[in-house]
Parts: sequence; C-alpha cells; structure tokens
Amino acid sequence: MRQARRHGLPGYPPPQPTRRCCCRAASTAAAAPARPAWWNLWSTPDVAPRASAALEQQLVLDETPELAAAGLVLRHEFVSAAEEAALLEIADEHLAAVPYADDHYDSVIKGYRECAVSVFPDPHAEAAVQRMRLTAWRATDGAPRRGSGMYPHVQFIDLPPDGQIRAHRDNMKLFGEFTCGLNLLSSAVMRFRPCRPTPTQGEEEEEGEAEEGEGVIDVLLRPRSLYVMHGPLRWHYTHEVLDAAASAEVWRKQPAEEGCGGEERGRRISVIARDLGKPGVFGVEW
Ligand code: OGA
Ligand code: MN
Repeated sequence: MRQARRHGLPGYPPPQPTRRCCCRAASTAAAAPARPAWWNLWSTPDVAPRASAALEQQLVLDETPELAAAGLVLRHEFVSAAEEAALLEIADEHLAAVPYADDHYDSVIKGYRECAVSVFPDPHAEAAVQRMRLTAWRATDGAPRRGSGMYPHVQFIDLPPDGQIRAHRDNMKLFGEFTCGLNLLSSAVMRFRPCRPTPTQGEEEEEGEAEEGEGVIDVLLRPRSLYVMHGPLRWHYTHEVLDAAASAEVWRKQPAEEGCGGEERGRRISVIARDLGKPGVFGVEW
C-alpha cells in the first residue's frame, strides 16, 4: 500500500512504553463516554453524512451552529500579535535550511516546506500552542478517542502563494479525532468536499474520492485564526488549501460588503497540532 501523506515527520510517533492494563476490558467499557450522533456513521463506509446545505451557499466567514455541527471550530484572532510574531520567528529559524519541495512524493501538497517543533523556549509561542491543543481537545470532548493523547510536536507548514494542499483526508489510523490548525500571515480558503472511499479502497484509507463540485464547503481562514476539524469534516470530507489563483476565484464571487473582497493569498504558515490515532499501528501500544 502506498505510503500515506500527512504522517507527520519520520520518527513520529515516538515509541511509547508498552502499557498493559490488568483490569478487564468490561470494567473500562462501562466508563466509555457517550458517543456523538455521527459516531455510528464512521463505521458505515457507504454512508457519507453531509453537513448542512446552508454551508454550501457561499464562503463561510464565521462560526455558525451549522459549521459547528459539521465539525469545524473557527476562532478569529486566536493568537495575539506577540504570539504570532513568536511563532513566525520559530518557523523562520527551523525552516531556514529547509528548501521548498516542488511536489510532495504523493502529490498531496505542492510547493511547500515543513518542520516539526516540540520545544518552545519562547513563552508566547508555548502559550499559543498549549491553547490550541486545549481548544482542540475540548472541542472533541465526548468523542471516542482512538489514542490516548496528542503528538508531542506541532508541524509548521510554509506555503508560498502558488503553493497548495490538495484534497485529502488526514491519515485515518495515525491520527485521531482532530486536526487543529493555526493560520498565519495570509488569509486562505480551506475547501471541504464530501468523500467516499473508492471501491478498491478501505474506509480507513486517507484519500477517498472527493465528489467534484457537489456539497463543497469553502471556509475563509483569516490571519491568526484557528480551526479545529473533527467529526463529519474530519472523517467524511476531504480538505484542501487553495492556492492564490483558486482563492482569488472564490473571493471574486463574494459580495464586497462581506468584508473579504481584496484579500490575497500570500505566503501562508500554518501550525498543525494532532492527536494520536489507533493504538498498535506501529506495533506499539500507547
Ligand atoms: C495537513 C493539512 C492544513 C493546513 O497538514 O494535513 O491539511 O492548514 N494542513 O495547513
Ligand atoms: Mn490535512
């Protein structure tokens, strides 16, 4: 099977000590949290739940009850200017020696560079990352977690204006309930499309088949905003980040009074935090 994109960087997750529990499975099952309504759908490959059609009408600018139900938390101005500056400095430091890759080996991401960072000596950066993680963890409270915590690193992804992240789902086994991203430097459009696994593919494989043109949801990510993707949008939709030309096309269609005309997709840096996926994927338990 083809190597999966969005695996984080080599070496992750780090091997964890094997933890065997002496209690019987039955006693822990009793304490399992109540499952949200969409949970059963996850195990039903031929059901692709659609988010509210209201979200498909035009670029989504703010969090609404429909967006929340679809599984997207969207917070404007999630980080302060000082936190943003501290994170950008870390990105520059770590990425200085990293060349832009023309194309990722499985073509999901185009024109980009990335690094993983797990230690934040700057208190502003540390505070922002911890707040991101807490927000994502709380947003998925009640979801049946596959893993038992979060990856120790966050990824920084640097996309120049013509860089794009093509439609994909995040790895269905390595990662858990959410993908949490901080959008820095430039506005960007994140596009979601309903997704079905192709007949030769298992539900758990990451790409699936995005349904072109149908049920598309476009969300505007402003600089310093945070998103947490979970639930239906995590499991049943692909997501992508548009390049400058495709973003301009979306913005061109927006009524000027909506306050997103004149946006430009410039260089964009995202900071991505994730939680652990299925135990045992790497032959270790955690
Ligand atoms: C990813 C991804 C989105 C972003 O890394 O899997 O989809 O906001 N990133 O950079
Ligand atoms: Mn992704």
